[in-house]
Amino acid sequence: MKLLLLGSGGREHALAWKMAQSDKCEKLFIAPGNAGTSEVGTNVPLKADDFEGIRQFVLDNGIDMVVVGPEDPLVKGIYDYFKADPELQGVPVIGPSKQGAVLEGSKDFAKGFMQRHNIPTARYQTFDGNHLQEGLAFLETLEPPYVLKADGLCAGKGVLIVPTLDEAKRELKEMLGGMFGQASARVVIEEFLSGIECSVFVLTDGRDYKILPEAKDYKRIGEGDTGLNTGGMGSVSPVSFATKEWMQKVEDRIIRPTVEGLAQEGIDYKGFIFFGLINVGGDPKVIEYNCRMGDPETETVMLRLRSDLVDLLEGVATQTLASRTVEFDPRCAVCVMLVSGGYPEKYEKGKPISLPSSQGGGSIIFHAGTAMSPLPLGEGAGERLVTNGGRVLAVSSYGSNKDDALARSMRGAEQIQFEGKYYRRDIGQDL
Ligand code: AMP
Ligand code: GLY
Repeated sequence: MKLLLLGSGGREHALAWKMAQSDKCEKLFIAPGNAGTSEVGTNVPLKADDFEGIRQFVLDNGIDMVVVGPEDPLVKGIYDYFKADPELQGVPVIGPSKQGAVLEGSKDFAKGFMQRHNIPTARYQTFDGNHLQEGLAFLETLEPPYVLKADGLCAGKGVLIVPTLDEAKRELKEMLGGMFGQASARVVIEEFLSGIECSVFVLTDGRDYKILPEAKDYKRIGEGDTGLNTGGMGSVSPVSFATKEWMQKVEDRIIRPTVEGLAQEGIDYKGFIFFGLINVGGDPKVIEYNCRMGDPETETVMLRLRSDLVDLLEGVATQTLASRTVEFDPRCAVCVMLVSGGYPEKYEKGKPISLPSSQGGGSIIFHAGTAMSPLPLGEGAGERLVTNGGRVLAVSSYGSNKDDALARSMRGAEQIQFEGKYYRRDIGQDL
């Protein structure tokens, strides 16, 4: 098959790395990709939400399947765009319809969906600018801390957790007043849940589903989960509290009702579902849904997926997932993210990167924010690898246990050089 993967981050490098290993992968294109994806496939200079450009590329190159990495093209309706085009109809898009992507695109829709299908989640209510007084009154019925969520997509910044009632009331007014633009025109207020989080991923063809290895991500910049939120500083898989019994609860109470609920509501969903879960006293509850894989979870999940990913994606596209098998690698995987100095605040790009000549020790280096740049004047012709984002490289390693995997990733991280390099040394250590 000729495959086109959309996206440009560490998640997409990990997906591309895994897809390229498949016997079914004849040719792999990544749009736009990064310096890492160009090692396992061919980068195409198209943005992931340039539907017209993608259309032309798919037709010109006889693409058999499009796999969508980030949420943006899904929320904008790339699945429906293909379905509505007579020439593209036959090309499956892995990812939900626009209606399905609303599970991620609207927190209010997601909460309503969970309520309709009895899926465990935090108690909540949603308010718009016309119902500020009711919102303030609802806050008074809750215990601190208070959780306020912008309904729409805010690049991961739309959730506020505030310690006092006064502050919560002030933030609610600001959010409804346009703090996150249109995205916070409605605000979900919910009960605070206390527990450890875990990300669970499934692939669904709309009828059946397969559960992929679970993972935990680390969002804060500082060790011990301190400091500002980031796009993710690392991940670990498996997650020790996600035992067989716990995962059975997740499947019975959350995964199956979600897949069945989507079908019951007539929502076309063929792709990944990311369940952001929290373990509350031994019981899983849903914090959020995403309509895509997680980043940096994918950088460990793909290491632990033994089965052929393209075969599974083909099962999604042809609604034959039930006949495919998913096998897990029994080893542990830990991903350590190397970020630019100053991230997640101001940082510089374009710093030259030096990578170790061989990637030994059970480590794989996935590129997140990298680019190839022409050599400076006087240093000859050619290009060099430079930083091109806040999150630069994800060092993922196998290990016999999480400490062993972390040690290997740290060794890999030490061998990589770029000005301002920073990483956390405690990924997985809280488990
Ligand atoms: P979300 O964008 O919904 O994933 O929220 C971002 C982060 O806020 C989550 O990963 C949790 O760490 C935290 N969070 C969201 N909702 C709650 C809640 N109801 N209780 C406790 N923490 C929460
Ligand atoms: N790691 C969390 C996310 O991808 O949203």
